[in-house]
Amino acid sequence: MAQDKQSQDKGTGARLIGVGSALPRRAFSNDELAAEFNLDTSDEWIRTRTGIQQRHIVSGDETAVSLAHMAAQRALDHAGRTAEDVDAIIVATSTPDQVFPSVAVRVQAALGMEQGFGFDVSAACSGFVYALTVGDSMIRSGQAKRIMVIGVEVFSRLLDWEDRSTCVLFGDGAGAVLLEAGAGEGEGILSTHLHADGRLGDLLYVDGAVGCASGKVALKMHGREVFRHAVVNLAAAVDEALETNGLKGTDIQWMVPHQANLRIIDGMAKKLSLPSERVVVTVDRHANTSAASIPLALDEAVRDGRIKQGDLVLMEALGGGLTWGSALIRM
Ligand code: COA
Repeated sequence: MAQDKQSQDKGTGARLIGVGSALPRRAFSNDELAAEFNLDTSDEWIRTRTGIQQRHIVSGDETAVSLAHMAAQRALDHAGRTAEDVDAIIVATSTPDQVFPSVAVRVQAALGMEQGFGFDVSAACSGFVYALTVGDSMIRSGQAKRIMVIGVEVFSRLLDWEDRSTCVLFGDGAGAVLLEAGAGEGEGILSTHLHADGRLGDLLYVDGAVGCASGKVALKMHGREVFRHAVVNLAAAVDEALETNGLKGTDIQWMVPHQANLRIIDGMAKKLSLPSERVVVTVDRHANTSAASIPLALDEAVRDGRIKQGDLVLMEALGGGLTWGSALIRM
């Protein structure tokens, strides 16, 4: 499936007016993780294959809802808005606290909102790009003026801690952006492209769910195959974004990619001829936070002053499904 936003241009465009993020209190270096979970692995193996040095993991009262709430509140503060200004909340997650109500409406309540609507989107590590696309489309169609789009994951709760080939790769966290109607031509979200190929669903999946007889919940991945598809499909999604907007790779000022593996990120930067200082990397400190990774990275680069208003930012992600996509934004 490919969805080209240009064809549904009905209302005004959406721009990003606030960003926020939240990480669990506890961080584990590779060595600390190996010791905590008694894993037969090494800092050297994890670092050289993925670029990961540490990850945050929830503990105590930390949940998907609490992290998402904190990220959303920070995005509101950053935008200088209050919860009363928000018409909708869209949350990308594969790890909600409950099957329902959605994380979105739990966050709505936590923010003290008495208005609006909310729902969750499930597209694994591409979830944020999917949720952003939905939010952008709803703003363009005039259904909402301001939408909080959140990516949040607590993958630590669905990892098999005896499977060293997967459990070292992921971390927990949340990131949020506040979208607002009113972007003019050439501003805000310029284009989004979504894709999925369900025939590749068994390359990366979570075995089990509440409705499933096995009752066993654990993430499974064919790492090499996923890597191969990531390189090919992300390159195609990036080309599509550039072509739609009549741009070249060198026109991109910042790449804020999904943070799964430094080797994949470096490959994409090379393809765009982007110097490494123009690529926002957090995988070293956050590991793969799935749907949360892009807004977490965006928040970091906006707050430390790297990404400024008017900059052209490319986002891309691939995840379980397989799902993948891209978004091009003029900040
Ligand atoms: N520590 C030490 N050794 C490990 C290990 C770990 N944590 N995990 C696996 N190994 C071992 C394997 O058992 C295997 O040993 P063997 O050769 O004796 O059988 C060896 O390391 C190589 O494993 P392999 O899976 O082939 O490694 P790789 O080079 O493909 O790297 C990934 C593995 C997961 C890092 C890599 O495939 C990857 O990044 N894939 C993409 C993942 C991704 O992006 N997923 C998310 C998409 S959202």
